[in-house]
Amino acid sequence: MSDKATLEINGKKYEFPLKVGTEDEVAIDLKTLRNATGGVITIDPGYKNTGSCESAITFLDGEKGILRYRGYSIEELAEKADFLEVVYLLIFGELPTQEELDKFEADIKDKSMVDDDVKKILDAFPKAAHPMGVLSSLTSALTAFYPSSVDVDSEEDMYKAIVRILAKFPILVAWTMRKKHGLPLEYGDDNLGYVENVLKMMFKKPNSEYVQNPILVNALDKLLILHADHEQNCSTSTVRIAGSSHAGLFVSLASGISALWGPLHGGANQAVLEMLEAIKEDGGDTKKYMAKAKDKSDPFRLMGFGHRVYKNFDPRAKIIKVAADEVLSDLGVEDPILDIAKGLEKEALNDPYFVERKLYPNVDFYSGIIYRAMGIPVEMFTVMFALGRLPGWIAQWREMRMRKEPIGRPRQLYVGETYRDFKTIDKR
Ligand code: CMC
Repeated sequence: MSDKATLEINGKKYEFPLKVGTEDEVAIDLKTLRNATGGVITIDPGYKNTGSCESAITFLDGEKGILRYRGYSIEELAEKADFLEVVYLLIFGELPTQEELDKFEADIKDKSMVDDDVKKILDAFPKAAHPMGVLSSLTSALTAFYPSSVDVDSEEDMYKAIVRILAKFPILVAWTMRKKHGLPLEYGDDNLGYVENVLKMMFKKPNSEYVQNPILVNALDKLLILHADHEQNCSTSTVRIAGSSHAGLFVSLASGISALWGPLHGGANQAVLEMLEAIKEDGGDTKKYMAKAKDKSDPFRLMGFGHRVYKNFDPRAKIIKVAADEVLSDLGVEDPILDIAKGLEKEALNDPYFVERKLYPNVDFYSGIIYRAMGIPVEMFTVMFALGRLPGWIAQWREMRMRKEPIGRPRQLYVGETYRDFKTIDKR
């Protein structure tokens, strides 16, 4: 294969180098395009064909349904690793030794307090506030309490910021939920593992001991691993681009949380459950909703279906579907919504509209069913996604800093008015 791409503009040829990734993916390196051509740019709304960076964290092949973190398959990680090992792997590039993991965990536990004044900020939110908005605000507010988190050139301060946010984020997650449900705000227990601690902080009732349920611990551990990174998706790109201005870690993460909130991204897990509920309320007529999803004059989309990158199947959805069955049966929960979901999936997989467009269930299609069986309220689903995605955002932010990437600043094709003379108000 040639190592160059040739572009012809107005009869003039320009050559650009081809770059090949470690999985043989090919990219045209257009860094010099604008200068070489005297101002020509590329335009690619939604960045469907544009690589924003080189990254060594996550590989995915949407045609083959492959997802790997740092070379390890998602299937193997979900089965054999625990979430904290995956966090370490994503951020630092290698699976930790026991000694490294112990130190990492101890460093996180050392920071597992949140300034009590953060509670005052939380208190100012109305109970009806969506937890994603609250979480984004609180994450951003942490900067005020730990100002060294903006010293992005100091490796020591960055390590501290990383362990701080890993320690404090689950507390904020739990607090957003507890506040909404009128429960007293809990701190964690340093004797517990990361995921057990999350569950205790979320669910402990003030008048009784919290007893860990290994089914819930395993299910949440797996869900967090499956959500932990997904290369340059909308929220991750947001984190990288915010951080590219040398903004601190916490505020960059807060912008990622906001980006994740939307129903086309992380907000889809909430939207899926609401959609399944609506179908159930409407008598379970899946065909009616399939028709709505295909009707171009109807804005309704089958939530939890389709993916920008996966055009075969989403490997995370496969694992989650099996997990949903297991968790519901282990917990003895019978949820008619699971049957509706399976019915919809079956119909969609045999429907020419979905087949032609390669629309398969994505990670969000079954995750909400597990969250619901675990007792997690529906408005917290996207927050749980954020908790899982946190290490991915951190890893991507750190990589962007270490590679000294330039500030993210796309170009545009201007299509507005050309020059016109100003008219005073009496002449308009
Ligand atoms: N239901 C019905 N039609 C759909 C759907 C859907 N869920 N998804 C895509 N299509 C159609 C779309 O109308 C278009 O049709 P046509 O070619 O006739 O115009 C075609 O499929 C291609 O869709 P697109 O919107 O151009 O594809 P995209 O890559 O820009 O969007 C997506 C990807 C995930 C935003 C989209 O599939 C979608 O809106 N899905 C529902 C929301 C969802 O489940 N999001 C979670 C994504 S996975 C987790 C995450 O990223 O956080």
